[in-house]
Amino acid sequence: MAEAEKKPKVLVTRKIPEKGLSLLREKVNLEIWPHDDIPIPRKELLSRAPSLHGIIALPSDSIDGEFFQRASLLKIVSHYAVGYDNIDVAEATKHHVVVTNTPDVLTQATADIAFALILGAARRTGEAERFLRSGKWQSWGPELLLGREVYGSTLGIVGLGRIGRAVAKRARGFDMSLCHTGNTPRDDLETGSRWLPLEELFRTAHIVSLHCPLTEKTRHLVNRKTLGLMKPGAILINTGRGGLVDQEALYEALSEGKLAAAGLDVFDPEPLPATHPLLTLENLMALPHIGSASVTAREGMAVMAARNILAVLVEGTAPLSRVMPE
Ligand code: GLV
Repeated sequence: MAEAEKKPKVLVTRKIPEKGLSLLREKVNLEIWPHDDIPIPRKELLSRAPSLHGIIALPSDSIDGEFFQRASLLKIVSHYAVGYDNIDVAEATKHHVVVTNTPDVLTQATADIAFALILGAARRTGEAERFLRSGKWQSWGPELLLGREVYGSTLGIVGLGRIGRAVAKRARGFDMSLCHTGNTPRDDLETGSRWLPLEELFRTAHIVSLHCPLTEKTRHLVNRKTLGLMKPGAILINTGRGGLVDQEALYEALSEGKLAAAGLDVFDPEPLPATHPLLTLENLMALPHIGSASVTAREGMAVMAARNILAVLVEGTAPLSRVMPE
């Protein structure tokens, strides 16, 4: 048998940093989808599935029952992200496939982007830059682009996990009062954050930031009702997943001025079409899902995704970060 055929075959669905790929090159038979900006087409993914022992997948890939049905040799889906709502973990388990993700290495990068959105949405920095670049700036103005102060305000964190906690630590530097909601009704001693039931958190916070996974339970947890509970002039931040927010309801709340602003790094769908009504709103700060897009985080994710592949396919050891079915 040719050497390449003895090695397990692994598809990487987009080029990821070389730091991770170089760990794999000698050990596995590597296929890399070569187009940097174009996700692997569904047809291509399905047609390659039967020969794969492992796959490094991205949030833009749908790894579902149909894929697992075809991937009869598959042992591992190594997800190049922490959120894995695009992977049907129950189906993976049914087909005896291990699913892993890349927690921790992207925590600080994502918390930085959440905080950039908090500051940007509150102080209207995106809008201000558009104003300047479009030649509208006439003079220093006492009422020009007035925003809200972040310092000393109340931050409500939905999901005080790794990233939520990292945001909370940044918020302490801004003397913010902290509250959080989640499954464990307990105040958090480390960050000084008070646990509140979800609805109470929406009533209390000046800024609500979402850091929980997208599941059937959390889909559209920001909706007309929860938006209706928020303080007039409050701000919503989402660096989790687009599906956490009912975007139509958010559009209404922003365009009616009920909320002062929102800062979103994630949308449903992605990419959000440039013609989407949300993008007509000056009080929306929108980023193209770049939470983990720092050099350090992406290299860390690549190494972790590669190590998970090696553990399962080459070394026969436990992966670094296994995802369990709910
Ligand atoms: C990116 O969105 C991730 O979940 O890591």
